[in-house]
Amino acid sequence: MGLDAARGLLACPVCAGPLEADGSDPVRSWACGEGHRFDVARQGHLNLLRAAQPAHADTPAMVEARGRVLASGAFDAVDAALARRASGMRTVLDVGGGTGHHLARLLDALPDARGISLDVSAPAARRAAKAHPRAASVVADAWGTLPVRTKRIGLAMCVFAPRNMAEFARVLADGGLLLVVAPDPAHLLSLRERYGLLGIEPDKDERLARTASAHFESIGRHRLRSPLTAGADLVRDLIAMGPNAFHGVPEEVEAIDTEVAVSVWLFRPRR
Ligand SMILES: C[S@@+](CC[C@H](N)C(=O)[O-])C[C@H]1O[C@@H](n2cnc3c(N)ncnc32)[C@H](O)[C@@H]1O
Repeated sequence: MGLDAARGLLACPVCAGPLEADGSDPVRSWACGEGHRFDVARQGHLNLLRAAQPAHADTPAMVEARGRVLASGAFDAVDAALARRASGMRTVLDVGGGTGHHLARLLDALPDARGISLDVSAPAARRAAKAHPRAASVVADAWGTLPVRTKRIGLAMCVFAPRNMAEFARVLADGGLLLVVAPDPAHLLSLRERYGLLGIEPDKDERLARTASAHFESIGRHRLRSPLTAGADLVRDLIAMGPNAFHGVPEEVEAIDTEVAVSVWLFRPRR
């Protein structure tokens, strides 16, 4: 299925009109009625970013490190929590979807669903294009107008990624659900203390709830904590997969035993 998973869901990034696949097999491009045309990349994703990739987009090395961390099962509790709340959903949009891992796990749990992973990083999108047969991968900027048609999405999710609440509200169908996973101050705390990594603002969840309440009716909040035992390689990858990688990854790291906790808020605003 690949990009076909996005049929009927994408909007032209130039004029916002419906974007459809051309009639060729395999599909070579997607276009709108106004004739704005976007070629499908050789690796299977669709680049709808009408600008150069920003400097902060995840690099190939970060994407690889994240892929190894996710494959280790370190964030499996997050996937299980998402799946529990997503039952019955048919169309999923994962904003800042990275490698496509969380979307793929969710689609495994939802056999009738299809989804789009949207990310500003082309290396991430290349990987997400192969994450799941029912997942499309699109390059776009989450802070701009999403190239997604209004009220077409049943579930929007955003895991450790930029949260454009106004756009999430626009693309969600009536009764649609938004699941936001954001780190709380205890998330990977021992790792952050030991290696001087970027901190997490103590009132992040309050600010998140305030921003969401401008666009969504009710907000359920749930704290999820899961312990993690990390060998040295995994510790290095946990550092290398995030923005800390832009400041350099320490050569020497130590294994951490059960003290690294995955600690996140799961927000659940309903439109
Ligand atoms: C911390 S990673 C999380 C990736 C994925 N959700 C996960 O949990 O594995 C943040 C992701 O957001 C993407 N990102 C950052 N800024 C973005 C933007 N403005 N628009 C879309 N994606 C963005 C990054 O490229 C990266 O893949």
